[in-house]
Amino acid sequence: MEIIIPYLHYLGIMALMGSLIAEHLILKPGIKNTQIKSLAGIDLVYGIAAIVVLATGLLRWFVVGKGSEFYLSNPLFHTKLTLFVIMGILSIWPTIRFLRWRRGVNKGETPDISDKLIKSTLMFIRIELLIVAIIPLLAVMIARGIGM
Ligand code: HEM
Repeated sequence: MEIIIPYLHYLGIMALMGSLIAEHLILKPGIKNTQIKSLAGIDLVYGIAAIVVLATGLLRWFVVGKGSEFYLSNPLFHTKLTLFVIMGILSIWPTIRFLRWRRGVNKGETPDISDKLIKSTLMFIRIELLIVAIIPLLAVMIARGIGM
């Protein structure tokens, strides 16, 4: 447990980051129907990765870590959790759009996706990427008792 849970936490983080980068690379004006299907698939990987990160994070917090009090007493941990929640909330918009577009593609339509919509969806993904980049900095500080 002491090895596998932190390992899965890292694996989840890598899949989270990788899927966000993949979405960012695919999402472009003039996106093709096949790419829309890929986007929805990658978004599913993102969702599963987020669940893995959360589940292993909770296990590190309550089961295998330094004791739940150690983390709770550090404001940086609260910041880390808040950022994670914000990231989850921000991901709702891209997910809804990808699913809506894929529904259209599955019906044999070519969804009418404006450049503006692409740009705003990219903005959500960029903010999420920024958050995923900041959280590990907080995590290493928390693990070393900084900020208490
Ligand atoms: C994108 C989200 C997340 C990222 C990037 C992330 C990153 C990390 C990293 C890099 C570590 C290792 C720190 C170290 O040993 O130096 C870590 C540890 C940890 N994470 Fe996360 N984490 C995320 C989400 C979460 C969530 C949602 C929770 C709680 C529900 C959580 C709880 C923990 C705990 C308890 C540890 C153990 C710290 C220790 O070794 O004392 N993490 N995290």
